Amino acid sequence: MRRAIVRGTGHYLPERVVENSWFEDKLDTSDEWIRARTGIERRHFAAEEQRTSDLGILAAQAALADSGLEAGQIDAVIVATSTPDLTFPSVATMVQAGLGMRHGFAYDLQAVCAGFVYALANADAMIRAGLADRVLLIGAETFSRIMDWTDRGTCVLFGDGAGAVVLEAAEGQGTSADRGILATDLNSDGQYRDLLYVDGGVASTGTAGHLRMQGNLVFRHAVEKLADTAHRALDRAGLNTDQVDWLVPHQANLRIIEATAKRMHLPMEKVVLTVADHGNTSAASIPLALSVANAQGRFKPGDVVVAEAIGGGLAWGSVVLRW
Ligand code: UT7
Repeated sequence: MRRAIVRGTGHYLPERVVENSWFEDKLDTSDEWIRARTGIERRHFAAEEQRTSDLGILAAQAALADSGLEAGQIDAVIVATSTPDLTFPSVATMVQAGLGMRHGFAYDLQAVCAGFVYALANADAMIRAGLADRVLLIGAETFSRIMDWTDRGTCVLFGDGAGAVVLEAAEGQGTSADRGILATDLNSDGQYRDLLYVDGGVASTGTAGHLRMQGNLVFRHAVEKLADTAHRALDRAGLNTDQVDWLVPHQANLRIIEATAKRMHLPMEKVVLTVADHGNTSAASIPLALSVANAQGRFKPGDVVVAEAIGGGLAWGSVVLRW
């Protein structure tokens, strides 16, 4: 049975680091409130001239270097993003060009904060179906471009960045002992569209718009849905939570992450945390966390890793893989 295994990871964070205290003289907020309610301490913001594709190219180059591969050996590029440089062409084709790739195919995928989980499921299906042998997956965002800087309920939460993963086909036995992606679980429910959305777009206002969120309602859905989706994917993989070595959650809020870990009976030592330093980077948050933890040598071959995320849509899901 064909499996999609992780060959390498990489990431890029813009140079500019903004501490929570930066917001204190602009808004009625405090470092203390942001830390206590979210776990966020700082975030990176892209420079004015940096676009999402620039971040994505740098993360992709790092992932290729970590994989020991050249761009010429990649069959497909998928970019998960909600903050594309332009309405079209896709960020993925810009990354493809930036890497000097003249072959294969590239496209964007938009499922907001769940985008990277959707992209992993998408690439897994393509690899297992034989459409591609090596897929470069990137989560890249410049959410600083869609912030309402007068809304303290949202603008302190998000950051910019990009992470990338190279997935490669490998033969497995079709058992839960295989390396690679073992199971995925994707969900969405469009009746919750008003809980988290951007109030602009091509066919509505003709502008990019600003992010709007009913944070406390999203919070409740997150706590309820994230552990459920992780449990479903683990069931499909034929594994239980005792066998999980690492939880790599979407990095939106430390309290959501802690509640999910608790519902899964996982100690926090098994949870990869980057939210303090990155804030919420939407589709980039999981590949960033994967890459940071991998660079620290935390994942050992054979480790079971569960990634989960929820965001606008609502859209949510999870992936179980063996490193
Ligand atoms: O990545 C996509 C998924 N998104 C998420 O997972 C985000 C989920 N939501 C959250 O992380 C949390 O709901 C927030 C961090 C956004 C907010 O935390 P909360 O504990 O749910 O607070 P709240 O929205 O219930 O607001 C509590 C109070 C309010 O004041 P009043 O009405 O009680 O006087 C807010 O106006 O906190 C106020 N508040 C702030 N105060 C200081 C909201 N933002 C701020 C702020 N500084 N930045």
